Amino acid sequence: MHHFEYKDGVLHAENVPVPELARTYGTPLYVYSEATLRRHFEAFDSAFSCPHMTCYSVKANSNLRVLSLLGSMGAGMDIVSGGELYRARKAGVATDKIVYSGVGKRDEEIREALTAGILMFNVESEAELARIGAIARDMGTTARISLRINPDVDPKTHPYVATGLKKSKFGLDMETSLAAYQAARDMEGVEPVGIDCHIGSQLTTIDPFMEALDKIMHFRARLADLGVAIRYLDLGGGLGITYDEETPPHPREFGAAVSKVLAGTDLTLILEPGRVIVGNAGILVTRVTYVKDTPSKHFVIVDAAMNDLIRPSLYGSFHRIAEVEPKQRPVLNVDVVGPICESGDFLARDRELPTVEAGEYLAAFSAGAYGFVMSSQYNSRPRAAEVLVSGDAAILARRRESYEDLVALEL
Ligand code: LLP
Repeated sequence: MHHFEYKDGVLHAENVPVPELARTYGTPLYVYSEATLRRHFEAFDSAFSCPHMTCYSVKANSNLRVLSLLGSMGAGMDIVSGGELYRARKAGVATDKIVYSGVGKRDEEIREALTAGILMFNVESEAELARIGAIARDMGTTARISLRINPDVDPKTHPYVATGLKKSKFGLDMETSLAAYQAARDMEGVEPVGIDCHIGSQLTTIDPFMEALDKIMHFRARLADLGVAIRYLDLGGGLGITYDEETPPHPREFGAAVSKVLAGTDLTLILEPGRVIVGNAGILVTRVTYVKDTPSKHFVIVDAAMNDLIRPSLYGSFHRIAEVEPKQRPVLNVDVVGPICESGDFLARDRELPTVEAGEYLAAFSAGAYGFVMSSQYNSRPRAAEVLVSGDAAILARRRESYEDLVALEL
């Protein structure tokens, strides 16, 4: 469910007509809906009946307005860099609700997180464990840690976003983890408090989650035998959304299944959802610059490109594209492409679309997650603006970059 709907033949973001936003703020433009963000967070967070913390995955959409909105609703944050820690703190998120994942945390990032007093580090290698321990001892403190376990479960998703298979760079296999927990138990400067896993993104069934959870629960029992008592179980993120015709489970179904397994334990569940909160809470609005017909193809050339939304180019992802003001017109099979000098620069290929004209607006749906955050200035294109709509009001959440911004850091 989201709040991008057609009213009187015009696409609206909540109560605001999208053409009005496009005219005011220009295109390409990311538009987010506050009501949708709220609804998604509430639906997710209320789905778990066991003690839990919902730590929104900052990487999915790290705009400060989004972070502070979710923070004000009680969300913790899952971060993967010092930059994300900075953003989360700037958005006013309590540091004792922050978990820190990622395979390559640098010394200064570890120090920053220890100084901030985050809830825990999700540790991804033995080398990192030793490093965190050494830095914490040096600072005269103790780092709470989980080890990220690689349960070797196939999430049945795009290979680039599958992270829990044996050959993946993420986490530690079960046997190595066991040895690492023993090392952590005896190491000064670290306190093992949790088990973590994240098996992948855009999962459309709950089976892989349940398989991973089952393995973790068994693993936890082995840890208890070693005298390592775990308080937190972090199941990561990964719940999928509908881009096209996927039918992912509702958070309610996921929450009920997971809560059942944890019922009666003394564990606090941690979740790191990203896409399921923000994905369908955002659209990318673009304007048709030209239409171009060649003997073999119809092209709709728009002012958004792979630098604005890279998912189609990078993963072959589907984003629904529709007219902002639909009209009765013959349908054509088209490629929707951007102005960048690469054949891989497209938002859609072989897509049925009414015969649109130069100057009109189109919307790419489900663009709230991994949209703006993955954008770049490739081809010296200033990054798009981001707008947050709430009811009748729109707030500029990030201004469009200027040409001066393009060169501002160059010496
Ligand atoms: N936790 C960890 C440790 C993660 O690595 C991720 C995502 C999440 C949580 C959040 O996953 P989500 O709930 O959003 O699925 N750029 C790709 C997605 C990459 C996901 C990376 N990790 C895309 O556009 O599909």
